[in-house]
Formats: sequence, structure tokens, C-alpha cells
Amino acid sequence: LDPSMQLGLDLTGFGGRMAYAWGSLLTAVRTGTPAYHELFGLPFWEDLEAHPDITASFDALIGPPGHGTPDPEVLVTGGWEEVRTVVDVGGGTGALLAEILRARPEIYGTLVDLPRTVASVGSLLQAAGVGERVSMVGQSFFDPLPAGADLYLLKSILNDWPDREAKLILGRCAQAAHPGGRVVILGGVSPDDRANPELLMMVLLRSKDRTLTEFRELAREAALEIQAAGRLPSGRFAVECRPM
Ligand SMILES: C[S@@+](CC[C@H](N)C(=O)[O-])C[C@H]1O[C@@H](n2cnc3c(N)ncnc32)[C@H](O)[C@@H]1O
Repeated sequence: LDPSMQLGLDLTGFGGRMAYAWGSLLTAVRTGTPAYHELFGLPFWEDLEAHPDITASFDALIGPPGHGTPDPEVLVTGGWEEVRTVVDVGGGTGALLAEILRARPEIYGTLVDLPRTVASVGSLLQAAGVGERVSMVGQSFFDPLPAGADLYLLKSILNDWPDREAKLILGRCAQAAHPGGRVVILGGVSPDDRANPELLMMVLLRSKDRTLTEFRELAREAALEIQAAGRLPSGRFAVECRPM
């Protein structure tokens, strides 16, 4: 088996969490609330916090072993010359930041993630030879973020959270970015004619993918205005916002 498929199918690791969670689909649909905790004893993020082995397998699945090496081209409108500082919010293994910093030696990065993640993922950035240009910040993205950067990235974050929490995270980015800064969302927003139900996210987290129209309203409530949206060279749909 392809090693990335093995990670998803390993029933002793995070693959097992995804597989068994489907058993809670009917409850999730009937109640509109995830029943993940009924199966595994705790809600999703607390379950990961309590099980370092499952977290390691989750990090591997979302990192290069599972999802491959991310493409550093994350801007819809270009303009990298305006970017000297990037904050990857919920940056996980740091794989995206590593690729951006490798491609652009003039840029400095900050990885924000939960303390347990930040404590365990530095090696990828060191191996990429960019560790010297990265600050690691172990904190929640529901708290004020490191301020004043040119670019805030939210990759595969908003689709983990229902509207109230997603708006809070966007609001933290809007508050932290300087007036000409940008907030870029990769994952969790789809073009209006390509709505994506993301059933697994509903089962795990009561979260969802949003159409661009739905996202525009959420962003506005968080004091962000969409500047551009479109497909990146990687094929990924991205949305670029500026603070209002
Ligand atoms: C689906 S992963 C995406 C990781 C990374 N952006 C990527 O695309 O590979 C979600 C990330 O959010 C982090 N996370 C979850 N809750 C968080 C919180 N309250 N504050 C900061 N990070 C959090 C997780 O640790 C995880 O790394």
C-alpha cells in the first residue's frame, strides 16, 4: 500500500478514529451535534490532546507523509514583494511554512499552534534549513495572535469549526494583521457552484465547508473583506482578504 493510504487506513491510529466516527453519523444528522465523544470518551480536540499516539498519527496524516508537500504558491493576486512576515495560524507540522521560506529567503515566519503540536514539530523546519527564520508560538488561535505581520495563513482550519468559532479565528487574524496586511484562507471555502458537504467534518467536529457567498458574510462580520478568490497553481481554491 502507498504509505499515505496506510496512514488513513491504520485502525490503531487516526485512521481508526475516522473509520469508527462514521458510526455516529445518524446521531450527528439527527441532533446537529457531533457524537464523537460518545464513541471515544472526549470531544475531538480533547481526545487528541489526551492521546499523543493518535495526535502523532493525525500530524503525519495532515503533514507531508499523508497529504504530500504543500505548494508554496498561496497568493491569488501575487504581490510577494510586499510580504516579509508570515504567520501560519494552526500551522500544524510547519510543512507549508517550510516550503514558503525555502522558496523565499527574505521572508520570516511564525508558526502558531497548540503547545503540544509546537513542542513536537520543529524538526521539519530544521530539516528544511529554515528553522532560523521561524518563531514557534504555542497558543490557541482563539487568543490574540502575534501582531503586525504581512500575511496570515489559515490552511485547513476553518473547515474544522462551526460559524461562531470560525468567525472568532478570522477576527483574531483581522485584529493582528497590519492595515495593508492580508489573510489567506486555503481549504474550507468552495466556489458557489462547487459546494462541498464535507460529511466527515460534520461527524468529527460539527463543522462544514462554506461556499464563497457564505464565507463573505462570515468574513465581513469578522471585519475582513474579500479581495480575491480563485484557484492556485496547485488547483486549491484560495480566498484572500484584507482587514476592513
Ligand atoms: C487540520 S490541521 C491543519 C494543519 C495545517 N494548517 C495544515 O494544513 O497542514 C488543524 C490544526 O489546528 C490546530 N489547532 C486546533 N485547535 C487549535 C487551537 N485552539 N489553537 C491553535 N491551533 C489549533 C491543530 O493542532 C492542527 O495542527
